[in-house]
Amino acid sequence: MEVFTSVKSLRQFLDQQVLQQKTIGLVPTMGALHEGHISLIDAAKRDNDIVICSVFVNPTQFNNPEDLAKYPRTLAEDSIMLETAGCSAVFAPSVEEMYPEQPVLKINFGELETVMEGASRPGHFNGVGIVVSKLFNIVKPHRAYFGQKDLQQVSVVSQLVTDLAFGLELIICPTVREEDGLAMSSRNRRLNAEERAIAPHIYRILAAAGEDLRGGKKVYEVIAWAKGQFENIKEFTLDYFEVINIKSLLSVEHIGPPGSNAICVATFLGPVRLIDNIIF
Ligand code: PAF
Repeated sequence: MEVFTSVKSLRQFLDQQVLQQKTIGLVPTMGALHEGHISLIDAAKRDNDIVICSVFVNPTQFNNPEDLAKYPRTLAEDSIMLETAGCSAVFAPSVEEMYPEQPVLKINFGELETVMEGASRPGHFNGVGIVVSKLFNIVKPHRAYFGQKDLQQVSVVSQLVTDLAFGLELIICPTVREEDGLAMSSRNRRLNAEERAIAPHIYRILAAAGEDLRGGKKVYEVIAWAKGQFENIKEFTLDYFEVINIKSLLSVEHIGPPGSNAICVATFLGPVRLIDNIIF
């Protein structure tokens, strides 16, 4: 497996692949890889001749400097996992390589970013939009792979691909969970043992709320119940718990046909901010 740190060397490699008419799958990541990322690599391998995984902790999408500083950086371990998974090449640029100049462009995703992660993390989706656009322009993939766990990210990236005509196919892969239901996340490794034991309550509450909504309970009742559940566990500081329309991302009072709604949650568990969602 090749590891590239410069755009130039990656492009030289990719130009050769394109000459041989190979199809390219891109899996953008910030590293600290887990089985969820590997499921994206597996999907990309199934669909494409070669798979590029980018590993870049993107500073422009962090609005909290401490969060950026503490984000796990584990390139050596990541490279072993990627090689074992059969990834063709890793693109792991430095901040200077990715941002020779501070970008001045601002991407505004309108209503898609006024809620949930966008409301709690101002500027986050501008940073995601810029780095993902740069990666698409550098790699020029036929397909790009994202996880459903970042549901709002999936919406904004999908908007980006449509609005800027990137001409690639977005493939969204299901959330991969630990046996106890906790959604896999690079941030899970920042949980201490006590927090890790509490963390599965996030999915337990989500799943129970989903069952209740499917069973006909009112949205406001279910939200009140779920918020109470989080309040009962002192280690959680809930940011939001919302029942939304999956297209507009706006909160709903009544649920629609199967597949049209999601329940999204963001909560601090100790110092670590975790998100999860289910679609129903
Ligand atoms: O989901 C992530 O890990 C990041 O937001 C992404 C898409 C790699 C952009 O930095």
